[in-house]
Amino acid sequence: MRSETPINSPRHVAIIMDGNGRWANARGLPRTAGHRAGVERVREAVRTAAEAGIDYLTLFAFSSENWNRPQQEVSDLMGLLRFFIRRDLAELHRENVCIKVIGCRQTIQPDIRALLNEAEDRTRGNTGITLVIAFNYGARDELVRAVRKIAEAVRDGDMDIAAIDEAAIAARIDTAGIPDPDLVIRTSGEQRLSNFLLWQAAYSEFVFMPCLWPDFDRAAFLDALAEYGRRDRRYGAVSAPDLAVGS
Ligand code: FPP
Repeated sequence: MRSETPINSPRHVAIIMDGNGRWANARGLPRTAGHRAGVERVREAVRTAAEAGIDYLTLFAFSSENWNRPQQEVSDLMGLLRFFIRRDLAELHRENVCIKVIGCRQTIQPDIRALLNEAEDRTRGNTGITLVIAFNYGARDELVRAVRKIAEAVRDGDMDIAAIDEAAIAARIDTAGIPDPDLVIRTSGEQRLSNFLLWQAAYSEFVFMPCLWPDFDRAAFLDALAEYGRRDRRYGAVSAPDLAVGS
């Protein structure tokens, strides 16, 4: 048995890694320094999640709205993603991590697209934790792309309107085949979803951590998992003890 697996361990954890800029500002450093420190926490988070027995870890690395940041910051973030894949891919592969990427791949730089494709191709057969990188990802954009696919299938006579149900949508969004997140963590004290996994997080538990992402260490991650372990998930029904009292 894994000693660190808490009772009620989540199968899929998704993280909004927020607060890099504030971390850097507080130290009188440029924002990029915060993102750089954030990348180191990414490595640690993947390892902690794997050790905790989590099957899927989704990280919000770059949103479809992040293009509105100053050009220099966007370019620094792209550079950091390149750096992360080039430096860490071999090690992640060795550690049996399977990488998947969600988000719109069409509108990103060709070299980054190639790197992301390479990361997926190389690690496809791995059987350890799945690291889902949300890159150029926006949940509304994802739903729009899924609706288009369905409309095209109906138009081409390949799909009946009556066949459009929740499963049909789930099969056409970027996370097709990946279970919904049990737990969504957001760091930096902000308490919002920011266009992340709107469909998938319908029944997720949320844990908002006050610490900034570059301070989100192994202990903070384990605290969030412990908090999840104390939650009672009812999915719109009633909990087992309440059922017993009512019977
Ligand atoms: C939010 O902090 C963080 C981001 C926009 C990007 C997160 C990216 C990384 C941790 C590095 C790259 C990721 C990978 C997977 C290699 P913020 O800039 O919004 O912080 P602020 O709210 O304090 O300004």
